[in-house]
Amino acid sequence: MTIRENCSLKDHNTFGMDVKSDRMVDWSTPDELKGILADLERPVLMMGGGSNLLFMSDFKGTVLHSSVTTIDILGITNDHVHVRVGSGVVWDDFVAWCAVNGYWGVENLSAIPGEVGASAVQNIGAYGVEAKDVIDTVQTICLADGSERDFINAECRYGYRQSIFKNELKGQYAVAYVIFTLSRKPEPRLGYGALEQEVERLGGPSLENIRQAVISIRDSKLPDPDVLGNAGSFFMNPVITEQDFNIIRSSYPDVPSYPAAGGLIKVPAGWLIEKTGWKGRSLGPAAVYEKQALVLVNKGGATGADIKRLADTIIEDVRQKFGITLSTEVNYI
Ligand code: EPU
Repeated sequence: MTIRENCSLKDHNTFGMDVKSDRMVDWSTPDELKGILADLERPVLMMGGGSNLLFMSDFKGTVLHSSVTTIDILGITNDHVHVRVGSGVVWDDFVAWCAVNGYWGVENLSAIPGEVGASAVQNIGAYGVEAKDVIDTVQTICLADGSERDFINAECRYGYRQSIFKNELKGQYAVAYVIFTLSRKPEPRLGYGALEQEVERLGGPSLENIRQAVISIRDSKLPDPDVLGNAGSFFMNPVITEQDFNIIRSSYPDVPSYPAAGGLIKVPAGWLIEKTGWKGRSLGPAAVYEKQALVLVNKGGATGADIKRLADTIIEDVRQKFGITLSTEVNYI
C-alpha cells in the first residue's frame, strides 16, 4: 500500500487538470483496504484511471485507488471461462489478455481508457457491447464497515452507462474484483456501424482482427488523452420518446437513431451537437473535438470551469434547438 500526502492528480485524470488531493491511497488487497478504513480521512473519492472525471478544484479529502492487479481463472469448460479480475487492472490490458487467450466477449470494448473496477461501475460500452453483457459478479468492500459484499449482475441494476454503484449506492462500496463470464467459442458481434467492413478489410472475424478494427475506428474518431486532454464522450446519448423523436425527424429526416429499452429511442448526442454548429469550435481553451462532437477537449491549460462553461453552453444550445436536455457522462468533482 502507498499513501501520498498533498498528491498531484495531473497524471491521474485524462483531462490533464493540474489539481491536488490532500492524500492518495493505493491499496493492493482487500485486507489492506479493510485495515485503513477506520482511519481514512473523509470525504473519499474512489478513482480508477481518471478517464471519466472533471476536477473543478483540488480535492479536499482522500483519493482511494485500487492497485488490485491479479487475473485468476476460476473455472473453465469447453464453452466458457470464469475470470476474476482485480479492479486496478488496466481495462485494455484485460481485453488484450482475453484476445491472446481466445476468450470472447470484450473485444468490442478494446482501447477504452480506464480500469476494470470502473468498467463495472460505469457499465462501459462501445460497438454494440456493454460491460454488463459479460459481468457475472462484482466483489466489493463496504467503506462504512469493511464487510465484503458480492453483487450478482442482476443486483447491479445495469442500464445505459448506469449501475447501482453510480446511483443508490454511490460512493459506498469499493470494487475489489470483477468476475466475468467469457465465451471460448467465437461470438463475433459486428452489427455496429462500419465495424464489419473494417474487420473484413483486416481478413475476417478473428478475435485479434475485431480488436484491431475497433482500435483503428476509435483512433480515427477519438483523441488520444496523452496528446489532447479529454474524457471520451462528455455527454450521454439522450433517450427520448417516439413522439419527441418524430418531432425532430419532421425537421431533420436524416436524424440517426438506435432503439433503446422500453420502446424509447436513443439519439446520438454528437449529431445534436454537430447540428448546433459546435463541432470543432472553441470557447477559450476548451473545444469540441473536430472529428466527434461528443468529445470535449482541453486545448492546453483549461480549468474545470473552462470545460464546464463550454459544456453548459452546448447543453443550452441543444435545448433551445431540439428541446432535449443533455446529461453529462463525465462526473464533476
Ligand atoms: N454523429 C454525428 N456527429 C458527430 C458524432 C456522431 O453526426 O460528431 C452521429 C453519426 O450519425 C454517427 C452516430 O452519431 O453515426 C454515432 O456515432 P459513434 O458511432 O461515434 O457513437 P456515439 O453514439 O457518438 C457511443 C459511445 C462511445 C462509443 C461509441 C461506439 C456514448 C455516450 N458514447 O458514441 O463511447 O465509443 O458509441 O460504440 O454512448 C465513451 O463513452 O467515452 C465513448 C467514447
